[in-house]
Amino acid sequence: MLEPAVRIPPHDDTVIAFDRVSVIRSGNFLVRGLSWQVELDERWVILGPNGAGKTTLLNLAAGRLHPSRGTAFVLGERLGRTDVNELRTRIGLSTGQFGERIPPAERVIDVVVTAAWSVVGRWRETYDPMDTARARRLLEQLGMGALLDREFGTLSEGERKRTLIARALMTDPELMLLDEPSAGLDLGGREDLIGRLTELALDPDSPAMVLVTHHVEEIPPGFTHGMLLREGTIVASGPLGEVMTADNLTKTFGVALQVDRFGDRYAARAA
Ligand SMILES: Nc1ncnc2c1ncn2[C@@H]1O[C@H](COP(=O)(O)OP(=O)(O)OP(=O)(O)O)[C@@H](O)[C@H]1O
Ligand SMILES: [Mg+2]
Repeated sequence: MLEPAVRIPPHDDTVIAFDRVSVIRSGNFLVRGLSWQVELDERWVILGPNGAGKTTLLNLAAGRLHPSRGTAFVLGERLGRTDVNELRTRIGLSTGQFGERIPPAERVIDVVVTAAWSVVGRWRETYDPMDTARARRLLEQLGMGALLDREFGTLSEGERKRTLIARALMTDPELMLLDEPSAGLDLGGREDLIGRLTELALDPDSPAMVLVTHHVEEIPPGFTHGMLLREGTIVASGPLGEVMTADNLTKTFGVALQVDRFGDRYAARAA
């Protein structure tokens, strides 16, 4: 499949513009010659086997990694030529690794409100009441309204995931990055989270979104585009319906797969 031509420098509504980006570590290509463009109103899902480079790609998009080769623009800033600390405040990132850094005794509302200062752990005694009100509203939207004062360490996996998503939204980011948000959730928790991600995806005020997942079943309705990644290169990318075919998924995962579509949800199994 031909990769779309990327306009460099990107226009105002372009959130991500990667042109032949490679990430090389110890002589290995984690990402190889990858071109990708994401617009403000797009919601992307990235699928691929373990080690395909999904998290590496997300770390590039988060400004936490620079390309070894190629040019990468995020929110109009060129990686390697810009102050990434400033850029990072414009990006919401939700990963499991981050959750592990939160002190277990931290209250849920504080986990979210501290995002305004890009810190982990409560270090101020008082917050701006507007920040607290915003954190409360986000937590309520994510179904966490009854748990504002609970200690983070006592939450279930699903409740933690929802808290971290509220935290990622706290700074009103222009780009939202989610690495395997449904990992470790039971069926009810997964479906609940997918419903909330669908609401976010369909809200025109939401930021551009990029979600990494292992399962086509976990693609929230409302997501518009897909990328299939294998060994650091794109197998297919573009409008979701065109990308999620049995042929493309079979190439990506290296097993013969059948893909079914039920309304706005997908399912895959061995062919
Ligand atoms: N600093 C590094 N040096 C060498 N290899 C690395 C480094 N960081 C990651 N890798 C390797 O790069 C590959 C891609 O890693 P990445 O975490 O992006 O994969 P992934 O698609 O997110 O996989 P998973 O589905 O298991 O989370 C893996 O093989 C990993 O071992
Ligand atoms: Mg990963």
